[in-house]
Amino acid sequence: MKSWILFWVISSLLFVHANAQKSALQKQGTATQLTVDGKPFLILGGELGNSSAACTEDIERIFPKLQRMGLNTVLVPAYWDLTEPQEGQFDFTLTDKTIEQARLNGLKVVFLWFGAWKNSMSCYAPLWFKEDYKKYPRACTQNGKPLEIASAFSENVYQADSRAFSQWLRHIAAIDREEGTVIMIQIENEIGMLEAARDHSQEADALFYAPVPDELTKYLQKNKKKLHPEMLRKWEKQGCKKQGNWQEVFGEDIYTDELFMAWHYARYVERMAQLARSIHDIPLYVNVAMNSRNRKPGEYPSAGPLAHLIDIWHCGAPHIDLLAPDLYDNGFTGWVAQYKLHNNPLFIPEIKLTDDDGVRAFYVFGKHDAIGISPFSIEDGSDSPDAPIVKSYRTLRELMPLLTRYQGKGVMEGMLFDQENRESIFIQDDLRIVCRHYFTLPWDPRAKDGSAWPEGGGILLRLAPNEYIVAGSGIVIEFEKVSENQGKMQALGEDGFAQAGGKNGETANRKAEWKGARCGIGHVDEVQVNEDGTLSYIRRLNGDQDHQGRHVRISTGDFRILHVKLYEYK
Ligand code: DGJ
Repeated sequence: MKSWILFWVISSLLFVHANAQKSALQKQGTATQLTVDGKPFLILGGELGNSSAACTEDIERIFPKLQRMGLNTVLVPAYWDLTEPQEGQFDFTLTDKTIEQARLNGLKVVFLWFGAWKNSMSCYAPLWFKEDYKKYPRACTQNGKPLEIASAFSENVYQADSRAFSQWLRHIAAIDREEGTVIMIQIENEIGMLEAARDHSQEADALFYAPVPDELTKYLQKNKKKLHPEMLRKWEKQGCKKQGNWQEVFGEDIYTDELFMAWHYARYVERMAQLARSIHDIPLYVNVAMNSRNRKPGEYPSAGPLAHLIDIWHCGAPHIDLLAPDLYDNGFTGWVAQYKLHNNPLFIPEIKLTDDDGVRAFYVFGKHDAIGISPFSIEDGSDSPDAPIVKSYRTLRELMPLLTRYQGKGVMEGMLFDQENRESIFIQDDLRIVCRHYFTLPWDPRAKDGSAWPEGGGILLRLAPNEYIVAGSGIVIEFEKVSENQGKMQALGEDGFAQAGGKNGETANRKAEWKGARCGIGHVDEVQVNEDGTLSYIRRLNGDQDHQGRHVRISTGDFRILHVKLYEYK
């Protein structure tokens, strides 16, 4: 009897623990995966506009649309001012409605705690907090101008923010621990100082001229080989000092002000994160506005978890799982590459809502083993079955068992093309795989009608030697042996014949003597990916559809999954 009771106690404890871990992060090869209900999961998400979860009617109206759009996750603000309208009095109506509607519409939720800071500012702090600026002081500029940015150095600010945050999280834990609808929490929103690179209040100044915490200098020494290159350069320039105030250790410039401020924001967030972990243990992240367009710290929100500050944030806030970029500027591929680091998985909580987001999603899952992507103000997008994001998410949802099986194993590539960047070449085994934008086909009239090319992109997944999955939209791929790059025919028309006659009646081919093996397309099948990752045949694409065995393609606007078998001949 006793052992039965012991068994019951242990298994209930394990059960409670398992439920507490409904969503978690785990490593697979070089990838960090988000698991939900015990299975790897890709966030096919969308973030609501800032004021779109501020009344129950809007939530009820919007969530069914998100389901029609094919999202599996919605990112939803949780507003401090509406959660604690009177000091100490909490109202969780909006949170309850969000969770209820998410469940009804088959969605997971990532909540965004709009607490002390939202886009640097403290506009979501309740009025009782804002008015009591003596108790809840503000950051200020060098000339003493107070900002509507609560001070990161004030214990009162932290106490008020964290009390609301923890009451709210306790409520979520109570209603959602077992079901696990809420899969991640973002703490604050786009933290950062504006107008100045750091707070210049008396409290801030005192710490700025005090020694850099040992914890940080020890971290830099211990991780010297792995530091972000900009961090290392800055520290090395001062002789890799182990002691001294911020200017002595890092130099006297605006970027040192930023490092200092980043440290203190990170410490604040770390306290929030530890609190969160003790209440409801799910993945936590911090999002960040980009330092783009040549702006300096303070012109962009200084000291948020930017790539060049990642070491400060990792050391200062070890309970934060990932630092996540919000992408609104040009140069998408460059930005995402900065945030997929050996010590930071890529999650894009916000990206400007455009028709290109559909192919960009393929790119980040294929190229960077991303955890997820989420266009901003998603409710403004189209829920037509023909909208690019809807088609993209439908295809990615189907692909998820395959993508999650192969993440982190070095067998996936992502591709993304536009009018300027038209081609990527991958070398795998003894193959050169030439991938291009669909409009590079010389016969496609849309390539030359003057309009901007929609982006094309996709995933190339090597299942085995000479066997690939190609998925995405607006791409064309040729496979050839590495040794085959000789004696090319001139450009071919859609019929596969020379587009125009060669000079003096010669084809390029006649000149070089051929050597070695060639690679041919065995077959290209459009397939469906089943829940267990197996493939079901839909149709063979041959003849005109693979250019008589010359290439594999998915036209612009179409999203497909193709299974490609190659073979060799001499
Ligand atoms: C980034 C912020 O994180 C969002 O809340 C929103 O303000 C967008 N910018 C743009 O409107």
